[in-house]
Amino acid sequence: MAFLLGCFLTASILLNNNIQARSAGHSVKEFHTTTSCPETTTIEKKDFSIHSILQNQRLLIAIAAYDFSQIPHLEEVLDAYHDVCIAGAAQVDVVIHATVPYPVTLLDLWNARFPCPHFSLQIVLKPASLRLHLVDCHRQLFYDNLQQYDLFIYSEDDIRVTPTTIATYWYETKRLEQYLTTSKYQPSDFNIGIVRYEYNYPANVIIDDKTRHATQNVTRVYWEHSGFQRPVVPNAVKDVDLDVQQHYFTMSNHHQGMFLATRELLAAWKTRCNFHIASNRPGKGAQPTEGTQRVWMSSQMLYGCRHGCCVQQLLPKERSFGALTVLHLPNKNYRRVGKYRQREFADGTEVFQQPSSTLLTDMELHLTTGPECIVGASDEGIS
Ligand SMILES: *[C@@H]1O[C@H](CO)[C@@H](O)[C@H](O)[C@H]1NC(C)=O
Repeated sequence: MAFLLGCFLTASILLNNNIQARSAGHSVKEFHTTTSCPETTTIEKKDFSIHSILQNQRLLIAIAAYDFSQIPHLEEVLDAYHDVCIAGAAQVDVVIHATVPYPVTLLDLWNARFPCPHFSLQIVLKPASLRLHLVDCHRQLFYDNLQQYDLFIYSEDDIRVTPTTIATYWYETKRLEQYLTTSKYQPSDFNIGIVRYEYNYPANVIIDDKTRHATQNVTRVYWEHSGFQRPVVPNAVKDVDLDVQQHYFTMSNHHQGMFLATRELLAAWKTRCNFHIASNRPGKGAQPTEGTQRVWMSSQMLYGCRHGCCVQQLLPKERSFGALTVLHLPNKNYRRVGKYRQREFADGTEVFQQPSSTLLTDMELHLTTGPECIVGASDEGIS
């Protein structure tokens, strides 16, 4: 099997050309459609539809991925962003901020997976000494490229974000702007939010042919919103006490592990609260008052009112809520809720039982490389 070493050098240049060659000119497409549920009288009837809304959009996506410890999740994440390109977005540029170099074989494998002509992936190596501040890197990237894109997504490396979620974010953002035309509030006082979910598989079972029925009661769980008293409303879920309250609610826990923002919102938040500056999480030393640096950069700086921008997170009360929920791929945090089961692993002495070595791997089936190379790598600040 031959791997094209020169591939990603070319790709870096290609990517830069792409970024420079892209010109402006997006608009929300007017799109009229009939709806199958006429009783849901929503605003899109007279204005725009969620269908095709990704067309003409240029997206810049930044992912923080320290190393390869979450590699299968990262692969799913990248597939989902590539789907956004296939779904019709004008351009999808993904930048991974990493601290370890990626093997050429892996880049080559990925090149063969991403045929969309308007998709690019760049891996930017950052010094490992950044440690927890690797999550800061997206902020300058976004503001350096503010005029070249319509929509920006920052995310950790294990959250699957589908075209549906991105289209819904855009659609709900436009809808909110319309509600606010007669309000004293600005669109930048708000951001459409995201809620993460996992599936609550039984804690003590490995699913195989004999135990597959163990998944029959498994359902999506919003684990980070579980620590509130019931009833759900008004504890985990709160009304927003504002003009838009008949349409939206907010989560008491604002953590999302990611955020989406339009160019206009990022520009407004720069003035509002210096959102373009990746600040340190509040608190001293090991005692942060509003979560770790990851939590601060992904959520609290935006939504927090004590030290942050105090932007109000909004989730639609109408049918879009499910479309704004995203899968946390490791599917492990739900186990933190309730009593920890006895843990045999994680004491450092564990020996993992390896799956069969006869399983046909992706690398074995990597028979050819595509004609185009779209995965780029570059090196920033490695001394
Ligand atoms: C699923 O839930 C039902 C009803 O509570 C229970 O009887 C059944 O044992 C559960 N099945 C599994 C596999 O947990």
